[in-house]
Amino acid sequence: MSLHLPHRPRRNRKSAAIRDLVRETELTPGHLIYPLFIQEGRKNDNIASMPGCKRWCLDSLVKEAGEAHALGIPAVVLFPKIADKLKSSSAEECYNPEGLVPRAIQALKQSFPSLTVITDVALDPYNSDGHDGLVAADGRIVNDDTVDVLCRQALCHAEAGADIVAPSDMMDGRVAALRETLDDEDFQDVSIMSYTAKYASAYYGPFRGALDSAPKAGDKKTYQMDPANAREALREAALDEAEGADILMVKPAGPYLDIICLLRAHTVLPIAAYQVSGEYLMIKSASAAGWVDEAKVVQESLIGIRRAGADMILTYFAKDVAKRLG
Ligand code: PBG
Repeated sequence: MSLHLPHRPRRNRKSAAIRDLVRETELTPGHLIYPLFIQEGRKNDNIASMPGCKRWCLDSLVKEAGEAHALGIPAVVLFPKIADKLKSSSAEECYNPEGLVPRAIQALKQSFPSLTVITDVALDPYNSDGHDGLVAADGRIVNDDTVDVLCRQALCHAEAGADIVAPSDMMDGRVAALRETLDDEDFQDVSIMSYTAKYASAYYGPFRGALDSAPKAGDKKTYQMDPANAREALREAALDEAEGADILMVKPAGPYLDIICLLRAHTVLPIAAYQVSGEYLMIKSASAAGWVDEAKVVQESLIGIRRAGADMILTYFAKDVAKRLG
Protein backbone atom coordinates (compact mmCIF):
# COMPACT_ATOMS: atom_id res chain seq x y z
CA MET A 1 0.00 0.00 0.00
CA SER A 2 1.42 3.36 -0.97
CA LEU A 3 -0.27 6.75 -0.61
CA HIS A 4 0.36 9.26 -3.37
CA LEU A 5 1.78 12.05 -1.24
CA PRO A 6 3.77 14.83 -2.88
CA HIS A 7 4.51 16.18 0.58
CA ARG A 8 6.19 13.87 3.03
CA PRO A 9 7.68 16.04 5.81
CA ARG A 10 9.33 12.94 7.24
CA ARG A 11 11.86 13.01 4.34
CA ASN A 12 13.49 15.98 6.09
CA ARG A 13 13.84 13.94 9.27
CA LYS A 14 15.07 10.68 7.76
CA SER A 15 18.65 10.83 9.05
CA ALA A 16 20.74 12.60 11.63
CA ALA A 17 22.62 14.28 8.78
CA ILE A 18 19.48 15.76 7.23
CA ARG A 19 18.12 16.73 10.62
CA ASP A 20 21.37 18.64 11.16
CA LEU A 21 20.94 20.42 7.83
CA VAL A 22 17.36 21.53 8.39
CA ARG A 23 17.66 22.45 12.08
CA GLU A 24 16.31 25.97 12.64
CA THR A 25 17.53 26.74 16.14
CA GLU A 26 20.94 26.39 17.70
CA LEU A 27 22.08 26.32 21.27
CA THR A 28 25.75 26.88 22.01
CA PRO A 29 27.64 27.82 25.18
CA GLY A 30 27.94 31.28 23.61
CA HIS A 31 24.22 31.81 24.16
CA LEU A 32 24.43 31.25 27.90
CA ILE A 33 24.81 33.52 30.91
CA TYR A 34 25.68 31.84 34.20
CA PRO A 35 24.06 33.30 37.35
CA LEU A 36 26.30 32.92 40.41
CA PHE A 37 25.48 33.47 44.08
CA ILE A 38 28.24 34.93 46.21
CA GLN A 39 28.96 35.36 49.91
CA GLU A 40 31.64 36.63 52.28
CA GLY A 41 34.16 34.37 53.95
CA ARG A 42 36.41 31.56 52.83
CA LYS A 43 33.97 28.75 52.26
CA ASN A 44 31.10 27.84 49.96
CA ASP A 45 27.64 26.79 51.09
CA ASN A 46 25.14 24.55 49.39
CA ILE A 47 21.83 26.28 48.76
CA ALA A 48 19.08 24.24 50.39
CA SER A 49 16.34 25.66 48.16
CA MET A 50 18.37 25.06 44.96
CA PRO A 51 20.07 21.64 45.03
CA GLY A 52 23.20 21.64 42.87
CA CYS A 53 23.81 25.38 43.36
CA LYS A 54 26.21 26.95 45.80
CA ARG A 55 26.87 30.33 47.28
CA TRP A 56 30.52 30.91 46.41
CA CYS A 57 33.16 32.73 48.42
CA LEU A 58 35.24 35.03 46.24
CA ASP A 59 38.17 32.64 45.69
CA SER A 60 35.84 29.86 44.57
CA LEU A 61 33.78 32.30 42.50
CA VAL A 62 36.85 33.08 40.42
CA LYS A 63 37.53 29.37 39.94
CA GLU A 64 33.93 28.53 39.03
CA ALA A 65 33.59 31.47 36.62
CA GLY A 66 36.94 30.58 35.05
CA GLU A 67 35.82 27.02 34.43
CA ALA A 68 32.57 28.23 32.89
CA HIS A 69 34.40 30.72 30.69
CA ALA A 70 36.83 28.02 29.55
CA LEU A 71 33.78 26.01 28.43
CA GLY A 72 32.73 28.88 26.17
CA ILE A 73 30.30 30.74 28.43
CA PRO A 74 30.78 34.44 27.70
CA ALA A 75 29.13 35.99 30.75
CA VAL A 76 28.20 35.61 34.40
CA VAL A 77 25.71 37.55 36.51
CA LEU A 78 26.28 38.05 40.24
CA PHE A 79 23.82 37.80 43.14
CA PRO A 80 25.15 38.58 46.62
CA LYS A 81 24.03 37.29 49.99
CA ILE A 82 24.32 40.23 52.32
CA ALA A 83 24.67 39.80 56.09
CA ASP A 84 21.63 40.94 58.08
CA LYS A 85 23.71 43.50 59.95
CA LEU A 86 24.49 45.28 56.67
CA LYS A 87 20.87 45.46 55.57
CA SER A 88 18.94 48.66 56.21
CA SER A 89 15.78 50.40 55.10
CA SER A 90 17.86 52.74 52.92
CA ALA A 91 19.93 49.87 51.45
CA GLU A 92 23.10 51.99 51.40
CA GLU A 93 25.34 48.91 51.42
CA CYS A 94 24.39 48.50 47.74
CA TYR A 95 26.77 51.31 46.75
CA ASN A 96 29.60 50.58 49.18
CA PRO A 97 32.72 50.51 46.97
CA GLU A 98 34.26 47.96 49.35
CA GLY A 99 31.14 45.79 49.28
CA LEU A 100 30.93 42.18 48.21
CA VAL A 101 29.81 42.81 44.61
CA PRO A 102 32.48 45.40 43.69
CA ARG A 103 35.18 43.11 45.12
CA ALA A 104 33.78 40.18 43.15
CA ILE A 105 33.73 42.21 39.92
CA GLN A 106 37.34 43.28 40.44
CA ALA A 107 38.50 39.74 41.19
CA LEU A 108 36.76 38.37 38.08
CA LYS A 109 37.93 41.07 35.70
CA GLN A 110 41.47 40.77 36.99
CA SER A 111 41.59 37.02 36.36
CA PHE A 112 39.50 36.90 33.18
CA PRO A 113 39.42 40.19 31.29
CA SER A 114 37.45 38.58 28.46
CA LEU A 115 34.66 37.34 30.74
CA THR A 116 31.65 39.66 30.64
CA VAL A 117 30.55 40.53 34.16
CA ILE A 118 26.91 41.46 34.64
CA THR A 119 25.50 42.79 37.89
CA ASP A 120 21.98 42.86 39.23
CA VAL A 121 20.74 46.33 40.04
CA ALA A 122 17.98 46.22 42.67
CA LEU A 123 17.79 46.76 46.40
CA ASP A 124 16.34 43.47 47.66
CA PRO A 125 19.55 41.81 48.94
CA TYR A 126 20.44 44.99 50.85
CA ASN A 127 17.05 46.20 51.95
CA SER A 128 15.91 45.14 55.43
CA ASP A 129 12.37 45.15 54.01
CA GLY A 130 13.32 42.67 51.28
CA HIS A 131 11.83 44.77 48.49
CA ASP A 132 13.54 45.85 45.29
CA GLY A 133 12.73 49.47 46.12
CA LEU A 134 12.65 51.70 49.19
CA VAL A 135 9.58 51.17 51.36
CA ALA A 136 7.63 54.16 52.74
CA ALA A 137 6.07 54.19 56.23
CA ASP A 138 2.71 53.25 54.76
CA GLY A 139 4.20 50.23 52.97
CA ARG A 140 4.25 51.69 49.47
CA ILE A 141 7.30 51.14 47.28
CA VAL A 142 8.72 54.56 46.47
CA ASN A 143 9.65 54.90 42.79
CA ASP A 144 11.72 58.02 42.24
CA ASP A 145 13.85 57.93 45.38
CA THR A 146 14.60 54.28 44.64
CA VAL A 147 15.86 55.20 41.17
CA ASP A 148 18.33 57.56 42.80
CA VAL A 149 19.77 54.73 44.92
CA LEU A 150 19.84 52.38 41.91
CA CYS A 151 21.94 54.95 40.04
CA ARG A 152 24.47 54.98 42.87
CA GLN A 153 24.50 51.19 42.90
CA ALA A 154 25.06 50.94 39.13
CA LEU A 155 27.80 53.55 39.27
CA CYS A 156 29.54 51.60 42.03
CA HIS A 157 29.41 48.47 39.84
CA ALA A 158 30.69 50.37 36.80
CA GLU A 159 33.57 51.84 38.81
CA ALA A 160 34.53 48.31 39.90
CA GLY A 161 34.62 47.19 36.25
CA ALA A 162 31.19 45.73 35.45
CA ASP A 163 30.56 45.33 31.72
CA ILE A 164 26.76 45.29 31.92
CA VAL A 165 24.37 46.44 34.63
CA ALA A 166 21.03 44.69 34.75
CA PRO A 167 18.25 46.56 36.58
CA SER A 168 15.79 43.96 37.89
CA ASP A 169 13.81 46.32 40.11
CA MET A 170 10.99 47.32 37.69
CA MET A 171 10.88 50.97 38.84
CA ASP A 172 9.62 53.40 36.19
CA GLY A 173 12.25 55.53 34.48
CA ARG A 174 15.25 53.68 35.81
CA VAL A 175 16.83 52.87 32.46
CA ALA A 176 16.98 56.54 31.42
CA ALA A 177 18.31 57.54 34.82
CA LEU A 178 20.98 54.83 34.80
CA ARG A 179 22.06 55.75 31.27
CA GLU A 180 22.39 59.39 32.20
CA THR A 181 24.33 58.65 35.39
CA LEU A 182 26.70 56.26 33.63
CA ASP A 183 27.27 58.68 30.73
CA ASP A 184 27.84 61.65 33.05
CA GLU A 185 30.59 59.67 34.77
CA ASP A 186 32.20 58.60 31.49
CA PHE A 187 30.90 55.04 31.53
CA GLN A 188 29.43 55.26 28.02
CA ASP A 189 30.63 51.72 27.33
CA VAL A 190 28.81 50.09 30.24
CA SER A 191 25.70 48.39 28.82
CA ILE A 192 22.23 48.17 30.28
CA MET A 193 20.44 44.83 30.15
CA SER A 194 16.99 45.78 31.36
CA TYR A 195 14.60 43.36 33.02
CA THR A 196 11.88 44.70 30.74
CA ALA A 197 9.08 42.21 31.29
CA LYS A 198 9.67 40.87 34.76
CA TYR A 199 6.56 39.21 36.09
CA ALA A 200 5.43 38.92 39.72
CA SER A 201 6.17 35.21 39.72
CA ALA A 202 5.97 32.39 42.22
CA TYR A 203 8.90 30.84 40.34
CA TYR A 204 11.32 33.16 42.19
CA GLY A 205 10.77 31.38 45.52
CA PRO A 206 13.94 29.25 45.58
CA PHE A 207 16.11 32.28 44.67
CA ARG A 208 14.76 34.27 47.58
CA GLY A 209 15.64 31.29 49.80
CA ALA A 210 19.20 31.35 48.44
CA LEU A 211 19.72 34.98 49.41
CA ASP A 212 17.32 35.24 52.31
CA SER A 213 15.81 38.16 50.40
CA ALA A 214 12.06 37.54 50.48
CA PRO A 215 9.89 40.60 51.20
CA LYS A 216 9.18 40.97 54.92
CA ALA A 217 5.68 42.24 54.16
CA GLY A 218 3.45 42.36 51.14
CA ASP A 219 4.36 41.18 47.66
CA LYS A 220 5.98 42.66 44.56
CA LYS A 221 2.80 43.15 42.53
CA THR A 222 2.93 46.96 42.48
CA TYR A 223 6.16 46.87 40.49
CA GLN A 224 6.55 43.46 38.86
CA MET A 225 4.08 42.66 36.08
CA ASP A 226 0.82 40.75 36.28
CA PRO A 227 1.30 37.27 34.74
CA ALA A 228 -2.00 37.78 32.93
CA ASN A 229 -0.67 40.62 30.76
CA ALA A 230 1.11 40.46 27.42
CA ARG A 231 0.44 43.84 25.77
CA GLU A 232 1.80 45.57 28.85
CA ALA A 233 5.17 43.96 28.06
CA LEU A 234 5.20 45.89 24.79
CA ARG A 235 4.68 49.11 26.70
CA GLU A 236 7.60 48.30 29.00
CA ALA A 237 9.72 47.34 25.97
CA ALA A 238 8.95 50.59 24.13
CA LEU A 239 9.93 52.60 27.21
CA ASP A 240 13.15 50.68 27.86
CA GLU A 241 14.13 50.98 24.23
CA ALA A 242 13.43 54.73 24.18
CA GLU A 243 15.33 55.15 27.45
CA GLY A 244 18.46 53.56 26.00
CA ALA A 245 18.46 49.91 27.04
CA ASP A 246 20.89 47.74 25.08
CA ILE A 247 19.26 44.37 25.77
CA LEU A 248 15.68 43.57 26.82
CA MET A 249 14.95 40.70 29.18
CA VAL A 250 11.89 38.54 29.75
CA LYS A 251 11.63 36.73 33.09
CA PRO A 252 10.69 33.96 33.86
CA ALA A 253 11.37 32.25 30.53
CA GLY A 254 9.56 28.91 30.11
CA PRO A 255 6.05 30.00 31.16
CA TYR A 256 6.44 33.26 29.17
CA LEU A 257 7.56 32.05 25.73
CA ASP A 258 4.75 34.04 24.13
CA ILE A 259 6.19 37.23 25.63
CA ILE A 260 9.66 36.45 24.25
CA CYS A 261 8.07 35.86 20.84
CA LEU A 262 6.05 39.07 21.06
CA LEU A 263 9.06 41.21 21.98
CA ARG A 264 11.06 39.57 19.21
CA ALA A 265 8.49 40.78 16.71
CA HIS A 266 8.46 44.33 18.05
CA THR A 267 12.07 45.23 18.69
CA VAL A 268 15.41 44.94 16.96
CA LEU A 269 17.22 44.94 20.30
CA PRO A 270 18.71 41.65 21.46
CA ILE A 271 16.50 39.67 23.82
CA ALA A 272 17.56 37.83 26.95
CA ALA A 273 15.40 35.33 28.82
CA TYR A 274 15.91 34.21 32.40
CA GLN A 275 15.20 30.57 33.21
CA VAL A 276 14.61 31.30 36.89
CA SER A 277 15.16 29.36 40.08
CA GLY A 278 11.70 27.74 40.13
CA GLU A 279 12.11 26.50 36.56
CA TYR A 280 15.51 25.09 37.55
CA LEU A 281 14.14 23.47 40.66
CA MET A 282 11.22 21.80 38.90
CA ILE A 283 13.56 20.10 36.43
CA LYS A 284 16.07 19.24 39.18
CA SER A 285 13.51 17.71 41.50
CA ALA A 286 11.69 15.74 38.80
CA SER A 287 14.97 14.33 37.52
CA ALA A 288 16.26 13.60 41.04
CA ALA A 289 13.15 11.48 41.53
CA GLY A 290 13.96 9.66 38.30
CA TRP A 291 10.83 10.96 36.58
CA VAL A 292 12.50 12.81 33.71
CA ASP A 293 15.91 12.76 32.04
CA GLU A 294 17.59 15.91 33.30
CA ALA A 295 20.01 16.49 30.41
CA LYS A 296 17.32 16.02 27.77
CA VAL A 297 14.69 18.12 29.51
CA VAL A 298 17.19 20.92 30.12
CA GLN A 299 18.24 20.89 26.47
CA GLU A 300 14.63 20.96 25.30
CA SER A 301 13.68 23.73 27.71
CA LEU A 302 16.57 25.90 26.47
CA ILE A 303 15.96 25.17 22.78
CA GLY A 304 12.34 26.18 23.35
CA ILE A 305 13.44 29.49 24.83
CA ARG A 306 15.82 30.11 21.92
CA ARG A 307 13.15 29.11 19.39
CA ALA A 308 10.72 31.59 20.93
CA GLY A 309 13.23 34.32 20.11
CA ALA A 310 15.75 34.71 22.93
CA ASP A 311 19.27 35.55 21.81
CA MET A 312 20.72 34.70 25.20
CA ILE A 313 19.56 32.74 28.22
CA LEU A 314 20.38 33.14 31.88
CA THR A 315 20.28 29.65 33.36
CA TYR A 316 21.61 27.88 36.44
CA PHE A 317 22.25 24.92 34.12
CA ALA A 318 24.73 26.95 32.03
CA LYS A 319 27.89 25.14 33.09
CA ASP A 320 26.35 21.64 32.83
CA VAL A 321 24.99 22.43 29.38
CA ALA A 322 28.25 23.93 28.15
CA LYS A 323 30.05 20.77 29.28
CA ARG A 324 27.63 18.59 27.35
CA LEU A 325 27.74 20.75 24.24
CA GLY A 326 31.54 20.97 24.47
C1 PBG B 1 15.80 40.53 42.54
C2 PBG B 1 15.84 39.37 41.66
C3 PBG B 1 15.03 38.24 41.76
C4 PBG B 1 15.50 37.33 40.80
C5 PBG B 1 16.55 37.94 40.12
N1 PBG B 1 16.74 39.23 40.64
C6 PBG B 1 13.97 37.89 42.73
C7 PBG B 1 12.79 38.74 42.84
O1 PBG B 1 12.52 39.61 42.01
O2 PBG B 1 12.07 38.55 43.82
C8 PBG B 1 14.94 35.95 40.63
C9 PBG B 1 15.81 34.98 39.92
C10 PBG B 1 15.40 33.57 40.08
O3 PBG B 1 14.33 33.23 40.64
O4 PBG B 1 16.18 32.73 39.64
N2 PBG B 1 15.58 41.76 42.07
